[in-house]
Order: sequence, then C-alpha cells, then structure tokens
Amino acid sequence: MSELTGKRALVTGASSGIGAQLAQLIAAEGVHLVLTARRKDALDVVAAACAARGVRVDVITADLGQPDAATTLWHAATAGGPIDILVNNAGFGYFRAFVDADWLRDAELLQLNITSLVELSRRFVDARKADPGRAYLVNIASIAAYQSTPNFAVYTASKAFVRNFTEALHDELAGSPVSATCICPGGTHTEFHAAAGAGDYGWLATRSMLSAEQVARITLAAMRAGKRNVIPGVMNKISCFGVRLVPRRFASWMSRRVLGKPRAGALPARPPRAA
Ligand SMILES: NC(=O)c1ccc[n+]([C@@H]2O[C@H](COP(=O)([O-])OP(=O)(O)OC[C@H]3O[C@@H](n4cnc5c(N)ncnc54)[C@H](OP(=O)(O)O)[C@@H]3O)[C@@H](O)[C@H]2O)c1
Repeated sequence: MSELTGKRALVTGASSGIGAQLAQLIAAEGVHLVLTARRKDALDVVAAACAARGVRVDVITADLGQPDAATTLWHAATAGGPIDILVNNAGFGYFRAFVDADWLRDAELLQLNITSLVELSRRFVDARKADPGRAYLVNIASIAAYQSTPNFAVYTASKAFVRNFTEALHDELAGSPVSATCICPGGTHTEFHAAAGAGDYGWLATRSMLSAEQVARITLAAMRAGKRNVIPGVMNKISCFGVRLVPRRFASWMSRRVLGKPRAGALPARPPRAA
C-alpha cells in the first residue's frame, strides 16, 4: 500500500518508451489506469503487463495530434471515474531542417506537444476544483527546453512551452492538493529517435542516454514529491546548468554539434491515426 494506492491515472503515450514504463511503475503502486496512444496492439501489451499487477486498466485509442481528440479522450477517460493523476507524456519531434518538413507534420506536433497537453491539463485542474483529494499532474518536456536546437526547431520550441507552462502552473497551484511537475529528460533509449528520423548523434549525446525505465523511476519519484522540475541524469543536469552561463547563440551552436547531422532522405511516415 502507498499513498497512491486506489487512485486512477491517465497516461498519454503509454504504448511505448517512457510512458509504457511509467504506466507499469504506477500500476505497481496499486493505481488504476487509463492508457492512451494511437497503436492499439502496443497499448494492449502494456495494459496486460499493468493488469498483471492487480489494477483495473482501460485502453482508449486517440490521436492527440488531431484537434478535438483531447476533448473526446477526456470524456471517455472520466466516464469510468475521476482522474487523480494525469501524465501528459505523448510527444514527438522530427530531426530535420525546418525547410525539409511540411506544415501537416508541424501542425500535428504543435497539437500533440502543446495544445492537447494544455487542454488535458485544463480539464484535469478544472475537475480537481470539486475534489479535495491529493492529485498529481506530470508534463514531460525535455532538456531541449533549455536552448534552441537547429534541426529540431519546432520540437525544442514546443518543449520550452511545456517547461514554462508547467513551472508556472506548479507555482500557481502551490498550497493546493494538486501538484504540477515538469520532467525534462535528456536522450532516452526509446522509439522517439527512429520516429524522429534521428539517432546518429555525437558521442556526448549517446553517452549521456538513459533507459526509459530509469527516466520513468525518476519521474514517479518527482511526481510523488510534488517537485517543480526534474532533469533526469547527472550529465543532463550539468548541460542544462551550463547553458545558463553561455550566450544563447553558443548554446544553440553546441546543441547542433552534439546532435550531429540529420539523415538524408524523407522523414519516417507517422503511424496511421487511431480509430
Ligand atoms: N526519448 C528521448 O530521448 C526523449 C528526450 C526528451 C523528451 N522526450 C519526451 O518523452 C516523451 C515520451 O517519448 P518517448 O521517448 O518515450 O518516445 P516514444 O517511445 O516514441 O513514445 C511516444 C509516445 O507518444 C505516443 N504518440 C505519438 N504521437 C501521438 C499522437 N499523435 N497521438 C497520441 N499519442 C501519440 C506514441 O504512441 P503511438 O505511436 O502509439 O501513438 C508513444 O506512446 C515525449 O513527450 C518526448 O518528447 C523523449
């Protein structure tokens, strides 16, 4: 039994990577789950692993890169009971020059990484006004929030939004039963990089990578403690501190060097929309 046992959590992006690991750790605390992403098959695998820990698991497919999907998801998720823990984890980026992508991909990225995240946060905070119980909001940003990054321009800007939004929300909610926690992972071994058409990073970026499980464990601990912002990994902490000491132009140049060159050719296709 823990202080989380019996609560109900909605985890977005639960079909792989950090979200899938976090869902399993949360399930191990005795928390009932609503898991969402686009890929039903992958969600079902994670759901089965969570259910094996003795909690109730609902699976709802949603493409949060589409307008109105967050509204539909929220209504479906809360039809089964109130949500006490919201983890806005779903996100994607593309590793290409801005001129080599297209508006539809940018529109999906902005909708997923920013608009759906804010809408779910809004609905969660509004719903908690009538509930005095302890509740937790976790938004996954990135160390990319700390500087501009050429070839990841839209993605890093979206994560700067998530960081600023969540830190401000944390301060607004201080003293209330709801905490808002921002997590800023650095490079993490997940499907993110293949989906981004990336992965040929420099030595430093590769060396400092953590596993999805490590990031999920740190996220759960940060959530539980109601932290404001946590950067998993010592190397990542150092790099985020370091960028405060140098001109922004230099930080941007460094991040370009660390990530290396984008691959030639077309970006990977995005998985089809959820039903
Ligand atoms: N991996 C890293 O190096 C890294 C570093 C910093 C921050 N992050 C952040 O960590 C979070 C989790 O990413 P990850 O590394 O675990 O990568 P991942 O394995 O690719 O997971 C991304 C998750 O988001 C879901 N997703 C993607 N597009 C979606 C859409 N349109 N609608 C609904 N769900 C969608 C994916 O599920 P479906 O494909 O099934 O929809 C998947 O479950 C993201 O916000 C990412 O930006 C990752």
